[in-house]
Amino acid sequence: MTEELLAVRDLKKHFPVTKGIIFMKEIGAIKAVDGVNFTVNRGETFGLVGESGCGKTTTAKLILLMERITGGTIHYKGRDISLLRGSELKSHRGSVQAVFQDPFSSLSPRMRVKDIIAEPIVVSVNAPSKTAVKEKIAELLQLVGLRKDAGDLYPHEFSGGQRQRIAIARALAPDPDLIVLDEPVSGLDVSIRAQIMNLLRDIQDRLGISYLLIAHDLPVVQHMSTWVGVMYLGTLVEIAGSEELNENPVHPYTKALLSAALPHHPAHIREEIILPGEVPTPFNPPEACKFHPRCFRARDICSSVPPLFRDIGGGHFVACHFIDDLRKI
Ligand SMILES: Nc1ncnc2c1ncn2[C@@H]1O[C@H](COP(=O)(O)OP(=O)(O)OP(=O)(O)O)[C@@H](O)[C@H]1O
Ligand SMILES: [Mg+2]
Repeated sequence: MTEELLAVRDLKKHFPVTKGIIFMKEIGAIKAVDGVNFTVNRGETFGLVGESGCGKTTTAKLILLMERITGGTIHYKGRDISLLRGSELKSHRGSVQAVFQDPFSSLSPRMRVKDIIAEPIVVSVNAPSKTAVKEKIAELLQLVGLRKDAGDLYPHEFSGGQRQRIAIARALAPDPDLIVLDEPVSGLDVSIRAQIMNLLRDIQDRLGISYLLIAHDLPVVQHMSTWVGVMYLGTLVEIAGSEELNENPVHPYTKALLSAALPHHPAHIREEIILPGEVPTPFNPPEACKFHPRCFRARDICSSVPPLFRDIGGGHFVACHFIDDLRKI
């Protein structure tokens, strides 16, 4: 049975843009996240895919409580995370961990690997004894495929892939239920990427943890994820099971992404969909459907009425006014 672990509803993060030196006047907002809805189930991977600047990292930071929410809610294990305080907040921070793209900047260069890994345990609500911490570090090093003596070294003594293993070990240290993986392999050599992805899958199989996997590379996300959400300019345009998205993409943007990513994909057989123009900036973005200026199916309604994010069956959600027509294409 699926159990909802994280529920994100109508999530918004707007960064105000101001003008003036003394009297700061708000002239608009960067709508980095603008009405995002998705759910991460226990033991599953939800993949969030979208082009640069569409709001993936901002979404991650809101979930990790690194940014303040402008609107909407995030429920974790049924609790609204913006209401957590004291020990509940501390325990939430332990339960939701993160691995970022660049293991160089996320690992303190002056700390030994063992101290880096131990940091989240030591600050946890029930900090264990020194011996227990030592045992835990040894166990984690083994789990992520690093040598036993790796704990005594510093991050710069490792390759990029190994540093990402250290970051994964640190994320696992407080026994989290969810790990946010923000572009975990895009900073690595192509030859190393599959190793790290496989490691993450093995760990998930063993420990039953959930992932929110963020990446701009659709095939990578599909390969790893139970569900995939396609993000465009601060909103999700489509969510489907990984296979379903591949076989029956509905939203014009998803169709275009797939046709560009997979040359032999059914969406590509008729024609490659080349989108006109660039992704607009999230500063005062297009009204209603944000994709309409680039969409091959757009009509008047798309610039005046925001499309609903509708479940078209089996957890397949699409935000478009022309779902029925598009399913036939
Ligand atoms: N602190 C901030 N202040 C103002 N604007 C911000 C801030 N953080 C992010 N943004 C803007 O919000 C938008 C979304 O950024 P975000 O980093 O979430 O995108 P992303 O999807 O993670 O992109 P990438 O694939 O390049 O990592 C961008 O236009 C970015 O410039
Ligand atoms: Mg990002």
